[in-house]
Amino acid sequence: MNLYDVILSRRSIRQFKADSLAREALVRIVEAGRLAPSAANLQPLEFMIVDDRDICPKFFPCLKWAAYIAPQGNPRPGQEPAAYVVVLVNTAVREKMFEYDVGAAVENMILTALADGIGSCWLISIDREKAAQILGVPEGFRIDSVLALGRPAESPVVEELKDSAKYWKDDEGRLHVPKRPLARVLHLNKF
Ligand SMILES: Cc1cc2nc3c(=O)[nH]c(=O)nc-3n(C[C@H](O)[C@H](O)[C@H](O)COP(=O)(O)O)c2cc1C
Repeated sequence: MNLYDVILSRRSIRQFKADSLAREALVRIVEAGRLAPSAANLQPLEFMIVDDRDICPKFFPCLKWAAYIAPQGNPRPGQEPAAYVVVLVNTAVREKMFEYDVGAAVENMILTALADGIGSCWLISIDREKAAQILGVPEGFRIDSVLALGRPAESPVVEELKDSAKYWKDDEGRLHVPKRPLARVLHLNKF
């Protein structure tokens, strides 16, 4: 797949196969995040790979999935993520306005993962206090986002957004994700 096809085919994945992910694949994903654009090149972000068999099940309950359809969108037992990249902000480097950096880094990681056949879901609904305790995150670092990763066990589809942005699941359990059509968001020269 070329880059454009990867971008267009990307969907948030919340059901994963049981396969584990190679540490090298996870480090490659973080490398793509590390080299993302950074405002003023301050680089306030650090990245924690969580792939330990004992830690993952403890960390999983810190995450909230697919709020519009909860609990239907939760990873089913046995379909939890194989690993996570936790995006940390070093607040001594930057206390605010780091969100653009996070966006660029996370999207780089999402696309790098998908190019290797690894699905992901970007999460910010996190019990940060509990997560920081489990992962031993020190003072001065804030957990911003979590990228949950694994081989996809679902194939969500995009559909045209009509009156609601709420994604939904059909009778076969397939997730439908409404998106505003191009004609409604594209402006040519004048609004
Ligand atoms: C900043 C951000 C935070 C998100 N947080 C969560 C989250 O906490 N839990 C979750 O299940 N999905 C989360 N998502 C995924 C969105 O629900 C998803 O991107 C949206 O429904 C569109 O679906 P798509 O990614 O397949 O295009 C988040 C996405 C973004 C960009």
